[in-house]
Amino acid sequence: MDTPAAAIRAFHDTATGTVSYVVWDRATRRAAAIDPVLDFDAASGRTATRSVERLLACLREEGLALDWILETHAHADHLSGARHLQTQAGGRIAIGEHIREVQAGFARLFNMRGSQAPGAEAFDRLLRDGETIELGGLRIEALWVPGHTPADMAYRIGDDVFVGDTLFMPDLGTARADFPGGDAHRLYRSIRRLLDLPPHTAIHVCHDYPPPSRGPQWRSTVAEQRARNIHVHDGVDEAAFVALRTARDATLGAPALILPSLQINIHGGRLPAAEDNGIAYLRIPVDALGAAAPG
Ligand SMILES: [Fe+2]
Repeated sequence: MDTPAAAIRAFHDTATGTVSYVVWDRATRRAAAIDPVLDFDAASGRTATRSVERLLACLREEGLALDWILETHAHADHLSGARHLQTQAGGRIAIGEHIREVQAGFARLFNMRGSQAPGAEAFDRLLRDGETIELGGLRIEALWVPGHTPADMAYRIGDDVFVGDTLFMPDLGTARADFPGGDAHRLYRSIRRLLDLPPHTAIHVCHDYPPPSRGPQWRSTVAEQRARNIHVHDGVDEAAFVALRTARDATLGAPALILPSLQINIHGGRLPAAEDNGIAYLRIPVDALGAAAPG
């Protein structure tokens, strides 16, 4: 039986390098949004909804109903726009079930207790490896691809797979594996699982940080990744990958928005409640990041 191809639009956020997607079933106009961004200016503490507005405009222009808001993982580089998108367009927010480990680890770091501690209710649906959900007449298969974090999911719809932070474009390689709970060995195995998909499968990445020689890109194929990915092309074994990944990660500083991002993202994109003066606050742990590995 033929699976009708999904329609896909990508939205690249130049501030964070994030690629958000709207994907839909052409026949039923049922849509999913993947990795929406809430704009955040760290210097002023101001949020903005320009990025989500682009997704909303797409939904309106194409006449789509939003069924799902899918997070590939708890991002460390941007605040999730999932909650704002949901208030504007509906849909259920889903993420991988291992988010519980990430929530626990960062709840310790931020000393979130009682009603401030994030739980399963932060998301509408926690997905297991291999689970499928419906998108109109299409099926979305959730694939657990840990390594960048313990909870990463990829979402496969027919011949398209949204890989989150596992693979980048072939000239940029792979995502880092040194966040709390990250593991380069697991990342390698997760990537090989993705690269075992049929060669024509389209790989849609979650980030692109284009070098000066080219503009932003976000789509490649399994065949292209196997031939040309600078970190994990065919022939690179696990030991070689782990050595390369570990050496590179040792040179990387913390992402600029990791502390505000995780506070929001382990709550499914929900901002903290306002205090009695009407203002909501984010917290900055001092000399503690890196000591909060979950589990
Ligand atoms: Fe990430």
